[in-house]
Amino acid sequence: MVTSRNGIVAGAVVIALLSVWFFRFGGAQVPGQGTGHGDHGTPAGWRPTWPAGDPARGRDVFAKYECFSCHEVRGEPFAVPPDAGNVGPELAAMGPAHEAEYFVEAIINPNAVVERGQGYEAADGSSKMPSFNDTLTVQELLDLVAYLRTLRPPPPSSGAVGEQGGHAIH
Ligand code: HEC
Repeated sequence: MVTSRNGIVAGAVVIALLSVWFFRFGGAQVPGQGTGHGDHGTPAGWRPTWPAGDPARGRDVFAKYECFSCHEVRGEPFAVPPDAGNVGPELAAMGPAHEAEYFVEAIINPNAVVERGQGYEAADGSSKMPSFNDTLTVQELLDLVAYLRTLRPPPPSSGAVGEQGGHAIH
């Protein structure tokens, strides 16, 4: 019975450690509760702020990582996405639609939100968007997000006539 007693003791130790972890860290991460923040002078109602980036450098980052190989950006002269099976959403329309944190999540955790039925997901349901987390630097991410936020769809008169005509035919 030594073995089973050891097993019970080991189980109790694991439960105790998990409890300590939860109350020390898990509890403090519950949004809106702010538990523990006061201990070191964090302001009430604290929320993370996203630092400003440089949109011009972000455009270079977009080109460097060839984001255009899957994403059209209307109004930009990047190469046309070559492989229709990998194509993600057009991004110029997204600029006004989302705040910085949305773009951050889309880039560092693409599986968090995947629009279904658009060909965006792989066979296992995950996003076709690859991970750049091992290569993109934090500064590159800041700049890239700043760039995405400046994007605006070009006005209808600026060369999008063919595209609109194509829609009108239907
Ligand atoms: C292999 C193709 C591929 C590449 C390369 C790629 N993406 Fe994506 N991306 C996708 C797909 C597919 C989606 C839609 C599914 C999703 O939201 O994860 C997407 C979604 C996004 C979205 C969210 C759009 C929305 O509708 O909410 C952003 C922003 C984005 N990508 C930016 C980038 C940036 C920046 C890069 C380069 C660092 C990049 N992507 C590279 C395929 C790609």
